[in-house]
Amino acid sequence: MATPLGIRRRIKRLLGIDPGPVTASADASPPPPAPVGLTLVGPDGSEASCTAAPGSTILATSGKLRRPLASGCADSTCGTCRVEVLDGAEHLSPQDGRERATLRENGLPGAYRLACRAEIVTGNVKVRGFELI
Ligand code: FES
Repeated sequence: MATPLGIRRRIKRLLGIDPGPVTASADASPPPPAPVGLTLVGPDGSEASCTAAPGSTILATSGKLRRPLASGCADSTCGTCRVEVLDGAEHLSPQDGRERATLRENGLPGAYRLACRAEIVTGNVKVRGFELI
């Protein structure tokens, strides 16, 4: 007899008892999304890498590293967190108006992004940072 939520099946699985073939209703939760990757090249050429959940900003992701990127504001206007994208630009979220304005005001060319705005959507991204903590 099947329970409405498949509890009996889950208990058997936890106990290591073969519950039989898995039906769609027993395990309906989708698999977790694949993590994204960041490689940060420091001003001295050193490299450090880490992973994060998709949609994390470069700045937040770099917080997992021993020496993360520095930030200087809370409204994406200072340019302290600027990075040069070396690889994987296609894996980043598109620039919004605020980011474009700050990059333009700081005279930064197209390969630059603000780490506090650019989100790593999928895959792996490699950036050069200029100011680390
Ligand atoms: S921290 Fe100021 S622009 Fe990103």
